[in-house]
Amino acid sequence: MTEKPTVTFAKFAAPKKGSVIVLVPEGGKLGEPAAACDPADILPKIFATTDFNGKLAASVEALAPQGTAYDRLTAVGTGKVDGLNEEAWLKIGGAAAAAAKNATEVTLVADVAGAEIAAADIASIGLGILLRSYVFDKYKTKKEENGAKQPSRGKAVKFTIQCADPAAARKAFADAEAVADGVYLARDLVNEPANVLGPVEFAEKVRELEELGVKVDILTEKELQKLGMRALLGVAQGSVRPPRVAIMRWSGGKVREKPVAFVGKGVVFDTGGISIKPAANMEDMKGDMAGAAAVVGLMRALAARKAKANIVGMIGLVENMPDGNAQRPGDIVTSMSGQTIEIINTDAEGRLVLADLLWHCKEQFKPQFIVNLATLTGAILIALGNAYAGLFSNDDQLAERLAEAGNATGEKVWRMPLGPEYDKLIDTKNADMKNTGGRNAGSITAAQFLKRFVGETPWAHLDVAGTAMASPSSEINQSWASGFGVRLLDRLVANHYEG
Ligand code: BES
Ligand code: MN
Ligand code: ZN
Repeated sequence: MTEKPTVTFAKFAAPKKGSVIVLVPEGGKLGEPAAACDPADILPKIFATTDFNGKLAASVEALAPQGTAYDRLTAVGTGKVDGLNEEAWLKIGGAAAAAAKNATEVTLVADVAGAEIAAADIASIGLGILLRSYVFDKYKTKKEENGAKQPSRGKAVKFTIQCADPAAARKAFADAEAVADGVYLARDLVNEPANVLGPVEFAEKVRELEELGVKVDILTEKELQKLGMRALLGVAQGSVRPPRVAIMRWSGGKVREKPVAFVGKGVVFDTGGISIKPAANMEDMKGDMAGAAAVVGLMRALAARKAKANIVGMIGLVENMPDGNAQRPGDIVTSMSGQTIEIINTDAEGRLVLADLLWHCKEQFKPQFIVNLATLTGAILIALGNAYAGLFSNDDQLAERLAEAGNATGEKVWRMPLGPEYDKLIDTKNADMKNTGGRNAGSITAAQFLKRFVGETPWAHLDVAGTAMASPSSEINQSWASGFGVRLLDRLVANHYEG
């Protein structure tokens, strides 16, 4: 299996060997520590003879450069110095990890001519290195493909980041690494196929968080029946694999402080049920638990960095299958809240799972807010593609805080409307509501449905169907699963709900 790189910090000193990476802003000027790594002035010659111009995350390399004992000397572009924000530092780290290729010892000289670099920026470079280095290759049994070495395989890469204040960088990076571990966990869960990761197996993975001091309760089918989670159970009843609900609690805040709560859709596989999906791309539905995976990754991150807040995580784990015992269109179920739901389409199952979770979460924990994450609708992909997650909220302050955390971390959210015009689209003659609202505004009617189960609790729903899976390759992610939501919500907590 591919190992996570190690990242350590040191003072500036021209390295003796290994692979060396220097940073170059637009225009192509080398700072002093970088120039010291290039005694024969090879890089300026390369800049003059290639199209490398210091563009953000671009790179160019010299192999076995003369006058040094290095295997490789690489220049990574940083873009314009005044554009060096958090997202840029992450991308620089990502580009550095990519430029390392199959080197095992890499020194990154974190100096940019004309820029001030804070400890937090160095930590972001380190986080970018970790995020970019993630590879899901546990099912690849061959070390070589077509005669070529697989750069991702084998020993862990050792990165040393040289910077002005290594001690401060080390401190800032400890929290960033906790977050990276949470993202790795979320990506692993989403990438794992559904034959391996059913509801029971997923719940077992959640148990592992106990090692970090997270309290974990796993509710079995019997207990869910007792609670009256009939909307969730209706989705699960077509599968031979029984459902689970996992409740995670981290108590890092003041004793009597109300918790903040995160709820996730964990449909381990979504065939659509009796309203079965077409075959094309159905394999992607192994990722229909990405909301739940983000909640678990988030809890891991918060616990590992000992967040000073009380946090509840709650996920609903089910499989949506067609079967002799499966739920039918036309069925009417009574949710835990007492509200009745007419099932029009068994493929609109995520909202049924969330309905009972949201209600239980609000009743049981009376949280300051609930944020839920779900790969809820294909329609959100039509509206926003994969650059933004859909944000729906009954609370302007919570919505603004999420948007701000999104812009800072690069896990961006775009607020969509809610309103009575949409709400009436899910009214039906036969019950309190129906589970679909027709073709138009599909993401909004899904959100309106959820809103009926949160009462007055400040709440936000993130539709991550476009951002959590089938992700385009980026500077900081090469995997099918992005782990979307872990960094965003970790930041939300850090900015507003700690200490
Ligand atoms: N899990 C899907 C949504 C989805 C689609 C996630 C594509 C990721 C990529 C969800 O359960 C679903 O099937 N939604 C339906 C709702 C419809 C039946 C009202 C949809 O979006 O088509
Ligand atoms: Mn579905
Ligand atoms: Zn689904």
